[in-house]
Amino acid sequence: MVQLSVESSISKQRNTESLIDGILENYNDYSRNIINILLRIQEKQGFVSEQDAIQLSDKTHIPLAKIFSILSFYNYFSFKRAGKNLLLLCDGTACRVQGNRKLRQTLKDELDISPGETTKDNLFTLKEVRCLGACALAPVMMVNGKIYGNLDEKKVKEIISGLKQESGKKES
Ligand code: FES
Repeated sequence: MVQLSVESSISKQRNTESLIDGILENYNDYSRNIINILLRIQEKQGFVSEQDAIQLSDKTHIPLAKIFSILSFYNYFSFKRAGKNLLLLCDGTACRVQGNRKLRQTLKDELDISPGETTKDNLFTLKEVRCLGACALAPVMMVNGKIYGNLDEKKVKEIISGLKQESGKKES
């Protein structure tokens, strides 16, 4: 049993290493592109673990402290695997003015989670982020990389119910 778990952890480490190697092949100047590199890792596997950060630092010679400071500064990054659907609710000024608090409450009621949490069924992770760069459409939420603007409680409920239906279909 112990043998199996050691083997699986070694194999996971190898997979991550080849993922990082594959991403690094696309860049010459690692230091200038470190945010893009981290974004690619996040997109590919849904998180950037501490182990990924250590490997990346070894391979690029970028100080680990710098990598950790980027990962901690941007809410987009997760150290742990996110749920199947990643919801980024904008908490920038324009979105606050346009009532993002109501949307946060709706999401809380619909999913029973607060920002920073993942539902028990692992279907949704909710995060609050700074300006998503679409202030003219405030209040805004990014769902699995796609921007949804001019949101109200009804639209948020529709988005959640659509995602739940989609996941149900995929599983059946
Ligand atoms: S403040 Fe929300 S998109 Fe800019």
